[in-house]
Amino acid sequence: MKYGYFDDNALEYVITTPKTPLPWINYLGNKEFFSLISNTCGGYTFYKDAKLLRLTRYRYNNVPYDNNGKYFYIKDGDTIWNPGWQPVKTVLDSYECRHGLGYSTWKSSKDDVEAQVLTFVPMDDNCEISRVTLTNNKKSSARITLFSYVEWCLWNADDDMKNFQRNLSTGEVEVTDGGSVIYHKTEYRERRNHYAVYGVNTKVDGFDTSRDAFLGAYNGPDSPDAVKAGKCTGELASGWSPIASHQIDVTLEPGESRTFIFTLGYIENPEDAKWEAPGVINKERAKALLARYSDETSVDKALAELKDYWKDLLSIYHIKSSNEKVDRMVNIWNQYQCMVTFNMSRSASYYESGIGRGMGFRDSCQDLLGFVHLIPDRARQRIIDIASTQFQDGSAYHQYQPLTKKGNSDIGSGFNDDPLWLIAGTSAYIRETGDLSILDEMVPFDNDMSVAKTLMGHLQCSFNFTATHKGPHGLPLIGRADWNDCLNLNCFSEHPGESFQTFGPSEGPVAESVFIAGMFVKYGEEYAQLCELKGDQAEADRARQEVKKVYDAACTAGWDGEWFVRAYDAHSNKVGSKECEEGQIYIEPQGFCVLAGIGVEEGLAAKALKSVEERLDTKYGVMILQPAYTKYHLELGEVSSYPPGYKENAGIFCHNNPWISIAETVLGHGNRAFEVYKKTCPAYIEDISEIHCTEPYVYSQMVAGKDAKFFGQGKNSWLTGTAAWTFVNISQYILGVYPTHNGLSINPCVPEDFGDFEITRKYRGATYNISVKQNGAQKGISRLIVNGREISGNVIPYEEGVTTYTVEATLG
Ligand code: GLC
Ligand code: GLC
Repeated sequence: MKYGYFDDNALEYVITTPKTPLPWINYLGNKEFFSLISNTCGGYTFYKDAKLLRLTRYRYNNVPYDNNGKYFYIKDGDTIWNPGWQPVKTVLDSYECRHGLGYSTWKSSKDDVEAQVLTFVPMDDNCEISRVTLTNNKKSSARITLFSYVEWCLWNADDDMKNFQRNLSTGEVEVTDGGSVIYHKTEYRERRNHYAVYGVNTKVDGFDTSRDAFLGAYNGPDSPDAVKAGKCTGELASGWSPIASHQIDVTLEPGESRTFIFTLGYIENPEDAKWEAPGVINKERAKALLARYSDETSVDKALAELKDYWKDLLSIYHIKSSNEKVDRMVNIWNQYQCMVTFNMSRSASYYESGIGRGMGFRDSCQDLLGFVHLIPDRARQRIIDIASTQFQDGSAYHQYQPLTKKGNSDIGSGFNDDPLWLIAGTSAYIRETGDLSILDEMVPFDNDMSVAKTLMGHLQCSFNFTATHKGPHGLPLIGRADWNDCLNLNCFSEHPGESFQTFGPSEGPVAESVFIAGMFVKYGEEYAQLCELKGDQAEADRARQEVKKVYDAACTAGWDGEWFVRAYDAHSNKVGSKECEEGQIYIEPQGFCVLAGIGVEEGLAAKALKSVEERLDTKYGVMILQPAYTKYHLELGEVSSYPPGYKENAGIFCHNNPWISIAETVLGHGNRAFEVYKKTCPAYIEDISEIHCTEPYVYSQMVAGKDAKFFGQGKNSWLTGTAAWTFVNISQYILGVYPTHNGLSINPCVPEDFGDFEITRKYRGATYNISVKQNGAQKGISRLIVNGREISGNVIPYEEGVTTYTVEATLG
């Protein structure tokens, strides 16, 4: 069942009922000011950091779902309704929500009054614009009242929901222009130099700034006293819960429309210009901001800029094939999700509360893989930021806070895959741009510039960390966990409340990871290539020798007969082996070892993938392990704490499905690679939205596995490494346009019936117009013609000064 449809021409997903199985959300904002917004207008706004600088409140874990947002109420006689249906939930005569790239719109009607709402964050301002147009389609004139509503968060979202003894007394506001402009200035007097503003470009008939006054003490936003009465109270908040609401009385003749522009902004003032009078905040910047969006022309212009920005970004990789769903994901939604994961890491979604993890070291490095082609300069800065949280021994803070860019000491380090992801991200950046200068940048360790090294030096530390942290089988030590945060082999947690990751020693001398071995082989080789590019052949040779040792260990101690072992635990027992009672096979080493090339020659790779197909595959995707753990294994940690079928315990963890698909392309299996691709691909499962539940335009972190009661149900949509990895898979491996250090490589691996296709790829200042003739073949280029000349191999040599490459590739 579907709850909407894709409008590919408009680059939008159109939701036709507010009653989606879960809130279906969108992200507004591209740089520093962000909003999450659901199809029923729920969500919240923050500047830079969802924990420390949050503008509006949201209530996670609440009933009903998706409670609190940026609401508009329309009171038409005795009927009160919202264009997004929530919070009043009056049955609407019509409803449509469109989520576009960085903006969302609603078009709804009730009793012949139509409301259109457009919400977006402009490219270069720290604000969210909502343009509300009301139209009277009645035969007689309509007297209606429009109310706006936002609830302020007292900035630190964590403290805001805990520290009531203080916070119920600190709230402060100011109001100007008869109530048109409302300022939230809590803590501005002492320790902050920023405030928020919510203004509308018209004279208002009332306002409220106190939640209790507006809603009534025991009411929720679904039945505000002020709206029911048709009149705000004009109360100035003092402590308790400050809000902002405007009341606008409108009389519309038949056929008449009126438009209002609401601006929700964040303003910072210099320390010496905080006040315009004692106790009165300096509003100069806020006024200038509101003035920039005071009429419809300026809003139209800002929206057009946003749309152009996206059109431009999406022209960097564009496919035209006969597979509508592939085109839609590649050209629009997968790249859009890559941008969002790059911006948010795992901080703020409807499943990540924004007060927890901040930026993940491994997560952000992987996000780069799907983002780097879009805005390489931002990727460059991100690499430096991430590397700055590394320690001198190559290990790294597992997470850091986006505002301070400092590592989180409460989680610390000890996740032994982290260091290698830095090589992955950096290598991707250099293959995309050819910019080797990044390797010479001086980068601090743990933000301490006095112990800085070049980025190349950091990569060496990463490489050496793994090379020098190996266990009894010559495999890399796992530490607190590797990619699988829940495989905690050194933890032994027996009491509730202990963190599986940070409880116990960070590293044991025994527990080893075959997954990290796969990573080391892949990224060790990429490190060696960077050494060669820097002219350091000796280091490249040394690296390859180290890689060889781990390769051999993976093929011996890491091989179980029909598939790769997952790990060795702290007692040196196998994890993910036929010897185990439960959890006999894990997806990670099968995907990563094979995509790294391990066992391809030896025939192990084909066996491993066959075992995946036989033991882990389902109609909704490939499960992370089987058989699911039915009891808690002290020696394995969190992985066995989830009920069977969920999350890391035999869920379909979407993130590593593309590893299997990529691995299949390594073996030339286009049919199977694409089959795996389709199973978790949102556009392909749109028509089972009632089962899948999460948004049909983005990936979720997890789909419940076959052992779960709700097999096929998605969870944790949006912020997942799945976005980057599926984009890498489809764009670089299946469609086969892969950036190498020497130029673009063309080597598709597609299903037999895929058909011919064309790709436009902008790369290092040139445009490549690539057409692929498939001839029913899955893989293997038989002819490659570049600008009229046939070339050998797959890599299009870069020619100085040539800005257009016409590429004709023939498979088979
Ligand atoms: C989550 C984490 C990611 C981890 C994965 C598997 O998605 O964000 O870092 O690799 O879970 O545990
Ligand atoms: C990852 C896992 C999750 C685990 C968390 C711990 O996100 O997906 O299951 O609880 O890591 O940090």
